[in-house]
This record gives sequence, C-alpha cells and structure tokens, in this order.
Amino acid sequence: MNNAVAGFSKLSKKEKTNWIAETYFSTPEDALKIIRNYWNSDEKLQQLHDEFIENTITNLYIPLGVAPNFLINGHYKTIPMAIEESSVVAAASKSAKYWATRGGFKATVIDTEKIGQVHFTFAGEAEKLQAFFDLIKPKFFSDTQSITKNMQQRGGGILDIQLKDKRNLLDNYFQLHATFETKDSMGANFINSCLEQFATTLKEEFEHSELFSENENVKVIMSILSNYVPNCIVRAEVSCPIEDLAEKHIQNPQDFAERFVQAVQIAEVEPFRAVTHNKGIMNGVDAVILATGNDFRAVEAGIHAYASKNGQYASLSHAKIENGIFTFWLEIPLALGTVGGLTSLHPLVKLCLEILEKPSAAELMQIVAVAGLAQNFAALRSLTTTGIQEGHMKMHLNNILNQFEATTEERQQIKHHFKKNTISHSAVVEFIESLRK
Ligand code: MEV
Repeated sequence: MNNAVAGFSKLSKKEKTNWIAETYFSTPEDALKIIRNYWNSDEKLQQLHDEFIENTITNLYIPLGVAPNFLINGHYKTIPMAIEESSVVAAASKSAKYWATRGGFKATVIDTEKIGQVHFTFAGEAEKLQAFFDLIKPKFFSDTQSITKNMQQRGGGILDIQLKDKRNLLDNYFQLHATFETKDSMGANFINSCLEQFATTLKEEFEHSELFSENENVKVIMSILSNYVPNCIVRAEVSCPIEDLAEKHIQNPQDFAERFVQAVQIAEVEPFRAVTHNKGIMNGVDAVILATGNDFRAVEAGIHAYASKNGQYASLSHAKIENGIFTFWLEIPLALGTVGGLTSLHPLVKLCLEILEKPSAAELMQIVAVAGLAQNFAALRSLTTTGIQEGHMKMHLNNILNQFEATTEERQQIKHHFKKNTISHSAVVEFIESLRK
C-alpha cells in the first residue's frame, strides 16, 4: 500500500486525523473516537498543546505523580514525577522516607558551565590563525552585545572563547569552543544565537584580514551548543552510620552495606550492569526533568557521555564504607532551566515548579540528582535484599487488572489471593479466568 501524502502539514487538524483514521484503520470511526477522547475540552488549552509541535493529532497522557518527604539540605520537598513505569514513584517515596530519618539528602552544585562550538575548517598556517583569533577575540564579545545584554544583567553571559586545533581528528578541522553561564535558563537559544554570531564574525573578519594569502580559507561547517556539559555538575549524597541502616528488610546492616557497596562496584567495572544501574538512576532523573518541562533527550545524551568519560561506560553512582559510615553518592551533568521554554508555557509544568517552590536552575539540579540517587538506592536495596520482582509485580498486578477490566469485586479477590501467592502474568491471568468461569 502506498501511504505517502503530499502537503500533510497544510491540512487542517480535522483533515489530518481523518486521513490517519481512513488510511490506517479498517473502522476509522473507532480510531477517531480514541484520538478525540484525548483532546482537551478546553479549546484554548488544546490549541496551546497543538502548537507545541507540528501535525498534532491529539495528546498522549503520561501519569504525573508526586513523591513527598524528600529531605534535601534540611528542607522537605515534594517531587513531581511524570513517568509511565509502575513502581518508580513508589520507590522514590520509599527512599525519601527512609533517608528522612537518617539525615536526609545532601546536594551540591559543583559547577554550571555550558558549552557551545563553531565547527570550521581552515586550510593554512595554524600559527597565523591563532594570531588572527587573538586579535579578533574581543570582537566576538562586542558583536554579541545585543544578544548577551539581558543575560549579563541576570549575572550570566559568555565566559570564554577559545580556538581549538582539531587537525589530529580531521583534516583542517578547527573549533571556536565557547563556555557560557546561563543562570536559570537552560540557555539553548541564547548559546546558539551567540554561536551563529561568532560564525558570522569569524567569516567577516577573515575576509577583511590581511594576514592570510589567497589560498588560505575558512569554511564554517556548523554552530551548535553541546549537550555534553562535564562542567555543569551536581552531586547528591546520603550517608549514615552502618547500624542506622537497619529496618524491617535490613536485619543485618553490616551485611547489607557490604552487599550494596559490592553491587555499586560491579556497576563501576561492568558495562552491562552499569547501563541497567544507570537506567535506574534515569528513572528518577527523567521523571523530574519531564515534569519540569526540561529536555530529557539532552540530559540523557549528556549523562551517558559523562558515564563514559574514562573510556568505558561505568556507574554514575558510588558507595563506600569508611570508619563505620556508609556513604552513597552520585555526580551527574545537568543543564536545566526553570525559566523560558516550556517552563513558562505549559500549565502543568508551571504547577510542578510551584510544587517545588519555584526553584532556581541550580536548585532544580539538586532536586533532580537527589531523585536519581533515591531511585538508584531503592533499586539496589531491592536487588540486594528481596529481589526486584516482588515490588514490581505488585505494581504490575494493577496493570494486568486494568488490561482485563477487572471489576471491584474481582480486584479484591485477586489482591487477596496474591498476598500469599507469587505474582506472575500467567498466574494472574489464570486466576482471573478461574474467577470468571
Ligand atoms: C528498572 O526500571 C530499573 C532497574 O533495573 C535498575 C537496576 O537494575 O538498578 C531496577
């Protein structure tokens, strides 16, 4: 079947949904019903969502939950989390409660430097290019004055610009490598605008320069921020005396602490485990990033690059026992914003930021890192004690019950039965079928 379509973006929303329904469904009315079920009845609100992207046909819901009782640097926070995976919010809440009685989470922003690059080629003498760059460097700052004015008033701006010789990687390859402070905004637009101006300045100044001969030339390839921000780092930590780790599921705290540290060490040296270990951290990180309207793809890309910074993909978190004290911590790069972009457009994002008491970008970095550490702690605690499936399957049971549209009475019977029996998909299905016979 040829399902190509010309001029789709020019169709009205009704025409687009009709085309989808008629092209891909044998009963188009049913498809249209699902699509329309998810339209917001408030037309203005729906229009706002329609205009976030192109060719919007409807909205895809992801649950927004909250994990309360997070004691971070001495203050209690309720953390909003947008995520579809069962047990993530429950695990975060459990970790929060556990650590609230053991000193809470400590979080520190180590640095907030962002990076952007103008990638270009230069065929000629590198020493001359360096001399030219040193000469025109102030021009990069003066030519971007109109872009940087507001940011400077907020305490940010361009930190530095350097010329980098990358010819060891590619023929004639050079960069303008610039660093920025963007305060409470993520800064993507600001950085990219500055970079495009740097590129223009570079080309113009090169054309007017008398330093170069006719066969020396500069060709700008592209100007773009980097989502790898190894100097935009936050650290989150928990620690307590080993004996304080004890609770219902941790009868032998010394043994628990040792197993826990070993579990982390495995993730530090073994990439297959490290990826899953870090995925658990990202369960917490992404959920808060999404709830606060930040760019989770950028954060994911940057964090995983950071996890490989020593040449092998490794754990983002670390743990140790020293003088009877258990300490568990992580350091991650996070380029976040609490102003601009979706943060001021999406009503639910605004609401989430209010739940977080309108944090600065630095405070949000701390909250996100804590959510990641809490999630990692919950996962490792389960993995090194009861195993992960116990908690997961309890939450999964609800999904199965919804899938089978179980009645209230059936739900009660099923939940009662599985208090004593092991939950598996087939066991639940079998039990539902036996009830319905
Ligand atoms: C599941 O979403 C995350 C875990 O696999 C993380 C881990 O194994 O550490 C439980």
